[in-house]
Order: sequence, then structure tokens, then C-alpha cells
Amino acid sequence: PGSIQQAKLVLLGDMGAGKSSLVLRFVKGQFFDYQESTIGAAFLTKTLPEQGIKFEIWDTAGQERYHSLAPMYYRGAAAAVVVYDISNADSFAKAKSWVKELQRQGNPAMIMALAGNKADLTELRAVQADEAKAYAEENGLFFWETSAKTNSNVAEVFTDIAARLPRA
Ligand code: GTP
Ligand code: MG
Repeated sequence: PGSIQQAKLVLLGDMGAGKSSLVLRFVKGQFFDYQESTIGAAFLTKTLPEQGIKFEIWDTAGQERYHSLAPMYYRGAAAAVVVYDISNADSFAKAKSWVKELQRQGNPAMIMALAGNKADLTELRAVQADEAKAYAEENGLFFWETSAKTNSNVAEVFTDIAARLPRA
């Protein structure tokens, strides 16, 4: 058993995209149909013993009035998960603007993932997976379609990041 390395990870994305739901699913195995909108930010941790990583997770608030707080959370972060809702095209546009902001102002070595959440809402799909995948490839992001509700690809987002983190 080696030592555990800490890694700061931030979730960004439009309000209602499912950031808190993804984190709660990953950290506690829980999901709530009536998840409360985050105020400011929430902090959770999760250790992946096999990967030797302890994630220190900042789940930010997507409401626009909290946007100016975001740099406090992404500054110095080793990784970011940018979340949109596959049933909401505006949330995908917002995700792209977060990626741009991170590219301009974030840590240049930051590992980024794009998560198209609510993948269970197939009949309401507004963002094609191919389009998001192409965008992610152009910008060097991991891409997964996830569902916090059905627990689809949630752990995969975080284990992909853990596998790519540079080791001290
Ligand atoms: P803010 O904190 O306001 O930025 O929102 P958020 O991105 O944290 O979204 P949150 O996790 O609060 O989820 C918003 C709503 O979407 C809640 O009612 C969740 O139950 C629902 N939700 C989250 N993930 C999923 C999912 O994978 N599928 C479905 N169907 N609903 C989801
Ligand atoms: Mg939230």
C-alpha cells in the first residue's frame, strides 16, 4: 500500500445540469429526484484506494449570480468536470463557455472531462453525443455521457481522471 495523493477537483456547469447529483452518486451512492440547488459551493471528498487518489471535490453552484466565485474553486485545481444536461442545448453552450474560461484562466495542466448528464432522458435529447464527443476531442477533454439517476458512467468519469493525474 503506497501513499494516497490528494487531488483538488472542481465541477462546473449550468444550474440544474446535475453536478451535485453526480457527486452525490459518486461519493455516497445516493440520488434524489428533488436535489436542492447548490448555494455557493459544497465540499466532499472521496478516496479511490486502488488508484491511490483522494479527490477533494468542490461542487460549485451553477446559478449565474455565483459565477464570480468560480475562480476560487478552479484555481489550483488538478482536474475539472464540466457538466451539461443532454436534454438542454443551452446547458451545452454554457459548458463550452466554462471550458473556454478554464483554458484561458485555469491551471494549464488541468485535466478536464466533459460529462453529458441525464443520459437516461433519451426521448428529450437535445445535444447529440457525436457533436459533444467531437468538441471534447478538439479540446482535449475526456467525454462521457452519464446518468446520476441510473448510475451510468459516473465512476468512469472520476477513474479516468485519476488515471491521468501526474504522480508526485
Ligand atoms: P445547481 O446546484 O443549481 O448548479 O444544479 P446542479 O448542477 O447541482 O444540479 P442538481 O444535481 O441539483 O440536479 C438538478 C435536477 O436534475 C435534480 O432534480 C436532479 O434530480 C435532476 N438530475 C440530476 N441528474 C440527473 C440524471 O442523471 N437524470 C435525470 N433524469 N435527472 C437528473
Ligand atoms: Mg448543485
